Amino acid sequence: MNKNEKIGVFDSGIGGVTVLKEIVKILPNEDYIYYSDSKNNPYGDKSDNEIKSLCDNIVKFFIHQNCKVIVIACNTASAKSVQFLRRKYPNIIFIAIEPAYKMVHDYSYNSKTLVMATKGTIESEKFNLLYHKYDNHKTILLPCIGLADIIEDGKTTEIRKYLRTHLEKYKGNVETVVLGCTHYPLIQNLIEDVLGQVTFYNGAPYLAMHLKDVLHENNLLNDSVSNGNIYFIDSTYNKLKEERFFKILKT
Ligand code: DGL
Repeated sequence: MNKNEKIGVFDSGIGGVTVLKEIVKILPNEDYIYYSDSKNNPYGDKSDNEIKSLCDNIVKFFIHQNCKVIVIACNTASAKSVQFLRRKYPNIIFIAIEPAYKMVHDYSYNSKTLVMATKGTIESEKFNLLYHKYDNHKTILLPCIGLADIIEDGKTTEIRKYLRTHLEKYKGNVETVVLGCTHYPLIQNLIEDVLGQVTFYNGAPYLAMHLKDVLHENNLLNDSVSNGNIYFIDSTYNKLKEERFFKILKT
């Protein structure tokens, strides 16, 4: 593994940009390839085997590109495939996002909590282990079927309607919200419009710090100051997605 190689980052679409953004803040001198698998979006309703196979293909592509580490910037993909990928590729370093539920345990234990994530994440064994380990006994788990999909398409009117339908009943009853899908930080303000002021937890900043530690421990931090390139690939070759991705990254 070479410290000058790129970091591979992927998600089922452009949602993982919320993870990459946090990473770039603390690792600006690295080069990145971001793979948006919007051809197969959403991952949230797919079977474990389908997700493993999709992730396996993306990982093969990153290995071919000599990526020094692979970041799974999708909670659903992490929940369903990281164990399989680590077993299949023991020499590859995988850094995987997960819902920031431990943070609720550590910093907001007594608060009424809503975990928003895909159905796939909420039903996964990996998330259930995390949930039972850190359960604050004041938590509602909400599988948000179809939400990542409309965020991916940037349909604000539909998103507002979805949130009103599914979240209004929690207004006043929830103090803390875990954004357990990497698409959801993109609509944090719209969630707040429905729920009022709440504390949000998003796993991305913690993942970024962990990534930096792992690169440091493995002597893989890029020490050149001339890098910082970000290459974007979408599995449908959608130019509009690319534009939206870089726009979000820059704001
Ligand atoms: N962004 C993904 C996540 O974090 C999933 C969205 C989807 O494809 O369902 O779970």
